[in-house]
Amino acid sequence: MKGIVFTEFLELVEEKFGIEMVDEIITASNLESGGAYTAVGTYKFVEMINLLTALSARTQLSIDELLYIYAQHFFKVIKSSYAALLNTYSDPLELLASIEDHIHVEVRKIYPDSQLPTFKTIKRSENTLVLDYHSSRAMYNFGLGLMHETFKHFGFEHKVTFEKIKEDGTHVRFFIEKGDDHKRS
Ligand code: HEM
Repeated sequence: MKGIVFTEFLELVEEKFGIEMVDEIITASNLESGGAYTAVGTYKFVEMINLLTALSARTQLSIDELLYIYAQHFFKVIKSSYAALLNTYSDPLELLASIEDHIHVEVRKIYPDSQLPTFKTIKRSENTLVLDYHSSRAMYNFGLGLMHETFKHFGFEHKVTFEKIKEDGTHVRFFIEKGDDHKRS
């Protein structure tokens, strides 16, 4: 997992819960890296699980809730650091249908060793998209948060539901509907 995912996660923890919480979860997690992350480094995914577990125990928020909150923060990072990529699109549904063949392809050019999920379009119509998420990391709640933020960014009403195809969350089906454009009403 790329360092930027760790540095931004700790940034969010500091912002929401304070610097003492950052120190506490790093100490509690027994990290191989010691918690000293650089944005371009690569670290074991288990370190993220340990940090999330330690934070979950101290905040009473589930790991899924924390991943969702984290996605809201990560989208701000995307907006400021990858604006050009984001703004190749004007339609949120078009963007979501293009993660696999464009967005994450570009991410892999920037970070060749990134560990990305696979998204497969199952069904597409003008205002709907059925998208399958596959990843051994089961970070579908992170994906869900990013989907909501994508619609908000472009100013569209929307509805996203999902169904776990595999109980452990490594294969999840998203049902995405695009609604009205706020800017036009
Ligand atoms: C992971 C970048 C859009 C879903 C990641 C990672 C980066 C990244 C850097 C971490 C990779 C690693 O740790 O090795 C971006 C950029 C985007 C974008 C720059 C837009 C310009 C999206 C969108 C979704 C999404 C719209 C919505 C579904 C995910 C998920 C992961 C991920 C779920 C976690 C890894 C996993 O589940 O296996 N992305 N992403 N990304 N991205 Fe994106």
